[in-house]
Amino acid sequence: MSEVSVTKDAVEKTGELVALTGVNKHFGALHVLQDVNLSIARGEVVVVIGPSGSGKSTLCRTINRLETIDAGTITIDGNPLPQEGRELARLRADVGMVFQSFNLFAHKTVLQNVMLGQLKVRKTDKKAAEEKARALLDRVGVGTQADKYPSQLSGGQQQRVAIARALAMDPKVMLFDEPTSALDPEMINEVLDVMQQLAREGMTMVVVTHEMGFARSAANRVVFMADGRILEEAPPEQFFSNPRSDRAKDFLSKILHH
Ligand SMILES: Nc1ncnc2c1ncn2[C@@H]1O[C@H](COP(=O)(O)OP(=O)(O)OP(=O)(O)O)[C@@H](O)[C@H]1O
Ligand SMILES: [Mg+2]
Repeated sequence: MSEVSVTKDAVEKTGELVALTGVNKHFGALHVLQDVNLSIARGEVVVVIGPSGSGKSTLCRTINRLETIDAGTITIDGNPLPQEGRELARLRADVGMVFQSFNLFAHKTVLQNVMLGQLKVRKTDKKAAEEKARALLDRVGVGTQADKYPSQLSGGQQQRVAIARALAMDPKVMLFDEPTSALDPEMINEVLDVMQQLAREGMTMVVVTHEMGFARSAANRVVFMADGRILEEAPPEQFFSNPRSDRAKDFLSKILHH
């Protein structure tokens, strides 16, 4: 057994952290999330895959309430998602999100980007926020870039800053929506390595990605979505070697053989 999977299995799973129950969401006539039930344990890494338009991003966005839902419930640590105000800001900090585009503040330095949420939402004092930001930037391998502006960094570096910024809030769970798909090929691994490390350290993660190597080595579970529904859920070994639905077989044949 590889070192990675030994470590991964050793991560203690202590109960449910995120729960979606009977979640439904429409965009006008389009039923984008259809009776979605998903329970994510503390420390679990769930990789979400599926065809374009199947609702993967929408699913992620409902978990930190960037999208509202029409029916069903979503809880984090047993608490339903807050509707608005300060509670909602706190939820957003508890649920770190990393998007395909890096979404850093262009007019702030890398260091300031990673300090900002700590100062504004967590009310951390400036010195502590800076120390933490520098430590996190070191951890994701961009410590020497702290005083630059985002535009002076490569895509891979910017994405690692975005990860550091989310981590600065001590999130309970991290959502990644295709974090490497806007990157040049040679930068993909440097971002996946950081994510791989986070997974090993026991971070609870939901990751939408086409990187099947990452799914195989880091995921505890693969969730396959099509047409707004979760069609299959299985450990990666099982899902990749023996997908049950025709949709999943078809999808895998397309992404694995080109
Ligand atoms: N704000 C919106 N308004 C209307 N329709 C939307 C909106 N956001 C998404 N949709 C539609 O909802 C469906 C699901 O979109 P979503 O972005 O969740 O899919 P996805 O699985 O992430 O796709 P991709 O792999 O292309 O990123 C799509 O048909 C999309 O066009
Ligand atoms: Mg998407």
